[in-house]
Amino acid sequence: MSTKRISLTQYLIEQQRGEAQIPAQLRLLIEVVARACKRIAINVNKGALGDVLGTAGSENVQGEVQKKLDVIANEVLIEANEWGGHLAGMASEEMDDMLAVPNRYPQGEYLLLFDPLDGSSNIDINVSIGTIFSVLKHQGGPVTNESFLQPGTAQVCAGYCVYGPQTTLVLTVGKGVVMFTLDREQGSWVMTEDNIRIPEDTKEFAINMSNMRHWASPVKRYIDECLAGKDGPRGKDFNMRWVAAMVADVHRIMTRGGIFMYPWDKREPNKPGKLRLMYEANPMSFLVEQAGGVATNGLQRIMEIQPTQLHERVSVMLGSRNEVDIVTGYHQEVK
Ligand code: F6P
Repeated sequence: MSTKRISLTQYLIEQQRGEAQIPAQLRLLIEVVARACKRIAINVNKGALGDVLGTAGSENVQGEVQKKLDVIANEVLIEANEWGGHLAGMASEEMDDMLAVPNRYPQGEYLLLFDPLDGSSNIDINVSIGTIFSVLKHQGGPVTNESFLQPGTAQVCAGYCVYGPQTTLVLTVGKGVVMFTLDREQGSWVMTEDNIRIPEDTKEFAINMSNMRHWASPVKRYIDECLAGKDGPRGKDFNMRWVAAMVADVHRIMTRGGIFMYPWDKREPNKPGKLRLMYEANPMSFLVEQAGGVATNGLQRIMEIQPTQLHERVSVMLGSRNEVDIVTGYHQEVK
């Protein structure tokens, strides 16, 4: 990379003029989300000094206990986005139903979906967490929950922000994946990777191993073979990592490759998986595919799933192409 610092604003203006031809409203939307992420980062960094740790005393629509930072991050994203004229509505993992832009503000062309604070169980222990977002085009008419039920292939932008040792924003508008790092002194996002590529091969997997006894046979077979190492059918030793925040586990894969899995398991057999299609799986799949990786639910490309509910869950396998192909193949053999 050249030593010239490229800001997020410059990158977006160039994308508006150049190949991606992103419309001005989408540029504004991305800038607003990035600004909101800066505010969330400030709250995250305050920790115990800012009274942001611990539970909020409420539950979200999926019956999960909300942390104070879940609620704060959700509010920051709503407040930042509702008045700019770029959105028709928003949907959040933390809200039961979508939120239309209030009538007092102009209505824009886009729909924004977000997981305001991913990996909430890491908040109080000072381990990486993040924000994940996805952008769809509103197809017209009144905005309802159904307006958001578009497959991942309809996304026009997706990204995430990791609040870790550094604060990084990773973004795609459908022309590759770029990364920005927050320069705290300047208060600006500076491009630090201009074309993220996920290596096709890897020796690193990420899965919550404590669920092994609940997995379906293709997942068990895949992991058993990884664990067998050099002497097993794969002929190589694997390493394992599990941050327990999808955003951080996917960021590692974006940086050095790997496979991430949160598969369906027998604990709640009626649910297709734990992770949310609209707020987690679709945006991450878009980013992973744009970086040359693959994302499936074991049987199908995640981005081609037609959603039927806002808070739909899905089984997720994503990352380095050759590993995801193997575990997807094992699912296809037994289907
Ligand atoms: O959103 C759910 C989430 O926090 C993901 O970010 C993460 O990958 C997963 O749950 C961790 O789940 P578990 O606690 O079961 O390992």
